[in-house]
Amino acid sequence: MSRSAFAILSTENLLHNLKVIKDNAPYSKVIAMVKANAYGHGLRSVSLRLQKYVDMLGVASIDEALILRDIGIQIPIMLAEGVFEPSELLIASIKGFHVVFHEKIQLQWMKNLSCPSPIQAWLKVDSGMGRLGFDINKAAIFYEQLSKNCQIEQPVRIMSHLACADEPANPLNQQQIDSFNRFVQVISPKASTEYSLCNSAAIFRFPASHYNFIRPGIGLYGASPLLNKSAAELNLKPVMTLKTSIISIKTLPKGSSIGYGARFTCPEKMLIGIIALGYGDGYPRTLRDSAPILVNNSRCSLIGRVSMDTSTVDLKACPNARVGDLVTLWGTDLPIEEVAQFTTDNTSYDLLTGVQNRVKFHWTS
Ligand SMILES: Cc1ncc(COP(=O)(O)O)c(C=O)c1O
Repeated sequence: MSRSAFAILSTENLLHNLKVIKDNAPYSKVIAMVKANAYGHGLRSVSLRLQKYVDMLGVASIDEALILRDIGIQIPIMLAEGVFEPSELLIASIKGFHVVFHEKIQLQWMKNLSCPSPIQAWLKVDSGMGRLGFDINKAAIFYEQLSKNCQIEQPVRIMSHLACADEPANPLNQQQIDSFNRFVQVISPKASTEYSLCNSAAIFRFPASHYNFIRPGIGLYGASPLLNKSAAELNLKPVMTLKTSIISIKTLPKGSSIGYGARFTCPEKMLIGIIALGYGDGYPRTLRDSAPILVNNSRCSLIGRVSMDTSTVDLKACPNARVGDLVTLWGTDLPIEEVAQFTTDNTSYDLLTGVQNRVKFHWTS
């Protein structure tokens, strides 16, 4: 039998989550964020499953967008970081990609260009996140430039991104929303201009700010986007369940240490299992002791530092475990948020996006 680290991916749960998100934002179109290999779930597999049900796909680079066109995906694709060099504008024009403009140089690149067809454009404004986007107090002039450019499809759309939507009480949310609202009013865009502000957390928290397009990412994959609510409370279901099996079981005497750095010392005689999954698969090396691991449906704990190919589990809660038994690292029956509490930044984002391609993926249907 080959190495057993694998992930089960549920089409049903992916489409269920999309429906939950749409039900929460019934008047908005959906840009499904499939960047970063669809948050670790597989760019192609996820996009093929979503294409019929969403209005657009969101990627970080033209390489990802071209992969999607190559496999026959025809719906609009947004380059969320825009183009990285002038030649990409031509490709965007030919392939019909939506280009986000967030930096002056991207506008300059438009000058000497002769596009075969007008480019679909978004102006990204920085409403307070301090990341990509034109300073919202100075962005009107750039909107104007794009609006007057005959190589740009009109009207130009407008977007921004919230920094703290996962913390609903954070005052920065309302400041950003107010600032975005002021901007779109001040530039008095044509009635048909479309806007977008909300990521997953904001979709659940700020219904008045859904605008024309929502941009869900993490919620689609069934992890909670909110710090104070579980995925189950939001009716989201995990798309990925990460599994492997026990490849060795041993009893260690009191005082024995486990793993690199001898981080864990047995406080008593202990039954432990070695599982075939480590940081080379995307299970973080920095995960702390006691992170939950399901062994035959019993909740056991990680002990000792995660190695590249293996990790160690305390089998006290599952004394009948055998070599070959399956374990679950996260997913159905073990919410990823609970595992994320044992990571350095408490979120599921890097757990999901970190899954490596030597983990075998099995999509259900
Ligand atoms: C511009 C933009 N929109 C939407 C998203 C989706 O965010 P989330 O995964 O929190 O829903 C992201 C994620 O990084 C993003 O960068």
